[in-house]
Amino acid sequence: MPLYPPVTDPKTIDWDNIPFDYVRTRSFIKYTWREGLWNEGELVTDGTLTMDVAATALHYGQSAFEGLKAFRMKDGKIRVFRPELNAHRLIKSCAATSMIPPTVDLFLLALKRVIEDNIDYVPPYESSGSLYIRPFVVGSGGQLGLSPAPEFYFCIFVNPVGDYYKGGMGNPVKALISHSFDRAAPHGTGAVKLGGNYAPAFLPSNAAKTRGYAVMLFLDPRTQTYIDEFATSNFAALTAPNPSDKTRTYVTPKSPSVLPSVTNRSLTELARKHLGWHVERRQISWEEVKQGKFEEMAAVGTAVVITPVEEVHREVVRAPREVKGLSTRDGVEDVWRDEEGDEEVEIDVARASGKG
Ligand code: COI
Repeated sequence: MPLYPPVTDPKTIDWDNIPFDYVRTRSFIKYTWREGLWNEGELVTDGTLTMDVAATALHYGQSAFEGLKAFRMKDGKIRVFRPELNAHRLIKSCAATSMIPPTVDLFLLALKRVIEDNIDYVPPYESSGSLYIRPFVVGSGGQLGLSPAPEFYFCIFVNPVGDYYKGGMGNPVKALISHSFDRAAPHGTGAVKLGGNYAPAFLPSNAAKTRGYAVMLFLDPRTQTYIDEFATSNFAALTAPNPSDKTRTYVTPKSPSVLPSVTNRSLTELARKHLGWHVERRQISWEEVKQGKFEEMAAVGTAVVITPVEEVHREVVRAPREVKGLSTRDGVEDVWRDEEGDEEVEIDVARASGKG
C-alpha cells in the first residue's frame, strides 16, 4: 500500500468483505481554533493535515479522539449511534489534556457535514458493515515548554468498516493478561480517550498476537487483582440464566481506569430495561473469572462491537524478538518491566463456562 493511499472509489468496495482497515474517502472535515474561536471548518480532500513542527500533539501527546458509527437502515435513512455521548466524552478528554473542545452542537454539525459529503461510503443495509467515524482534537500549534498549544484542530474522518476481529460476533477469541505491562496508571488517564493510552499497547499486543491471542486484557495497575479493560474495548460478562426466572446478570468492571464505553453503557441499558436482567457494575476479580463464574465473556466497544471471549490466559510475556523491523537489540526489551526468570511461564487460564 502506498504511504498516502489514493481516494477509494466507493463503487469498487466489496461491501460484504470490508476489513477494519484505513480507506481514504472523499474528504474529512477540519476546524481550527485560534485566538479564542473555532473557524467555519472546511472539507479537506487531500487526506493530509499540516501542522507546526513543534505541535504539542507531536511532542507531548496533546491529542484525544473518539470512535462511533453510522449505519444505513432498512428505511434508507442513515443513523449515527448516540453521537451526543461521544461528544461529551471528547469534551472530557479535552479537559484532561488542556485542549479546547468543540461544543456538542459543533460536534454534531461537523458529523453531519462530513457524512453528507461521504454518503456513498456508508455500507448498504444488507451488508454487515458500517461507517466508522473518527473525531479527534489535537494541539496543532507549536510550543516548546510544557504548556498547551496556541492552536487546535478538531477533525472528523470517516471510514467504511467490517469486523475488527475476523469473524465478528460468530468467532470467539482468546485474550491475554500480561504480567509485564500495565495499560493505565493509578490516577492516570485510563478513563479518557487519548492517543497516548493506545500506542504503548502496540508492542505487547503485537507479542500477544504472534502467540495466538487476539487481544490483551489489563488488570488494575495498583493491585493486579481486578479486571480493568481490553486494549481495544471494555470487558463484560454474563452469568448463566437464573433457574427460577431465567434472568441473567450482566457484569462489567467498576474502575477509575476504564474508558466509559458507549457500547457498554447501551448494553447495560438494554439488559436492564429491555431484558429485565440484573446489571452489576463492580470490581471483578481475576479469581472469579478463573473460577469460571461467567457463562459468557465479551469485549464490547464501537470497533469490536460484541466480540465473544472464550478464554483468558495470564502469562509472563517477554518482548517479541522483532516488532515491525525493530529488533530487541534496538531497545524494545528495555521498555518492558523485568520479570523474574527467563522463561515464558504460563500461569493461569480462565474459560467462559458457556459456549463462549
Ligand atoms: C473504538 O472502538 O472506536 C476505538 O477507538 C478502539 C480502537 C481500538 C479502534
